[in-house]
Formats: sequence, structure tokens, C-alpha cells
Amino acid sequence: MNHIAVAIDGPSGAGKSTIARTAAKKLGFIYVDTGALYRTIGLAVFRKNFDALNPNEVISVLPEINIKLKYVDNNQRVYLNDEDVSELIRTPEISLFASRVSIIAEVREFLLDMQRDIADKNNVIMDGRDIGTVILPNAKVKIFLTASDEKRAERRYLELFQKGVSTTIEEVLNDMRERDKKDSSRSLAPLKKADDAILLDTSELNLEESINTVINIIKSAEA
Ligand code: DC
Repeated sequence: MNHIAVAIDGPSGAGKSTIARTAAKKLGFIYVDTGALYRTIGLAVFRKNFDALNPNEVISVLPEINIKLKYVDNNQRVYLNDEDVSELIRTPEISLFASRVSIIAEVREFLLDMQRDIADKNNVIMDGRDIGTVILPNAKVKIFLTASDEKRAERRYLELFQKGVSTTIEEVLNDMRERDKKDSSRSLAPLKKADDAILLDTSELNLEESINTVINIIKSAEA
């Protein structure tokens, strides 16, 4: 049986995860947050006290780790060697580690089959940076979700604040710009809009409008 795949790519803070998660729930699809996979590798490297910029150190960690995604009440949980690390991977420090390890070809290769396998077996909305370009180039729907830097920083700040992470909006904006630059300028699977992706700028849309727009795009592709 063929499953429907929706690829949502875009920079951090564009609202990808909230929008994709809610749209998936409404449509009965599985939501796959691929950033969590890179974050989990980042966490493993961080715990070893290794340098995320040193490919040899990062690659040496890969054989020691087993990453699993599980779905509890439709919510994604990520496991590192059977430990639920879903919350631990959300700190600004691990964001930076994730962005750094994601440059490494072996890391991307390590996570590739896992992502494709989930899309083979389920109707998915998968979010990331290279889903429409590399992971699922044949996805039925591709959306490139973006918003202005300021809007994205404001949203990410509020999200972190609600989780009790102490930071400032300036710090978030700086971290975000640094990560976006790295994610877009890397030679391997850079953050970029697929030629056949629909560009959706959410700067002037509230959450509900953004979710409805995404759902309408998916429904019209299904029809
Ligand atoms: O979506 P996120 O902010 O949780 O992602 C964390 C980092 O992982 C991001 O800076 C870049 C990397 N990433 C990637 O390279 N490819 C993906 N498909 C998803 C995330």
C-alpha cells in the first residue's frame, strides 16, 4: 500500500513543528520531527565531552548509539539507547551541537534509512531541512515554511520560556542566525526549498491560520 508523505522544510522557529504536529493530528498522519534525531546525536556527543566540530570524534560515537522513535498518544518520543531523551535534547546548547553534527555525511547517512522507513510504513508529515530535497524527494506534498528572523526568534523564545529555559530574545536571535547560516551554507543537504515545494511565509499568519493553510494544501493534493 502506498502511503502519503508530506515534507515540511524550513529554518528554525518558522513554526514547522507546531504546525506539522497539529496538522498531522487532524489528518490522522504520523508527525516525524527529524530535528530530534540530529539533536539526539548532538546529546550523545555532548555527554562524551567530545567536540561536535570534530568529525572523527562525532563518527566514533555512532556505533555506540541506538536511536528509536516511538509514538505515545500520537506524540513522538525519542530514545537514545532506551533512555527517553525527548526533553533533554531541547536546550540551546544541544541545538548548537545538533546543527554542528548535522554537517557530517556519516551522521546524515546514519539517519537516512530510519526516516525513509517510517515514511514507507505510515502516512507522515515529516519536518526537517532536507526532507523534500533528499530524504523524500517523491513526497506527494512539499512545503517550505518560513517567516521573518524577528518573528521566528520571538516564537522560539516564547516556546523556550514556556519550557522554563532561561534565555533572552537577543540570544535566541543570535543562536538562530548562526544555526540558519550553518544549515543553509553547508555543502551537504543544505536547508533549501525544493523546486517543487510550495513556499509558505507565516510572518503575518497566526498559528490557526498557518495550520489551516497547511491542511488545505495537503487536502487539495490528496483530492
Ligand atoms: O529542527 P531542529 O531545530 O530541531 O533541528 C536541529 C538541527 O538539526 C538543525 O540546526 C539542523 C539539523 N537538522 C538537519 O540538518 N536536517 C534535518 N532534517 C533536521 C534537522
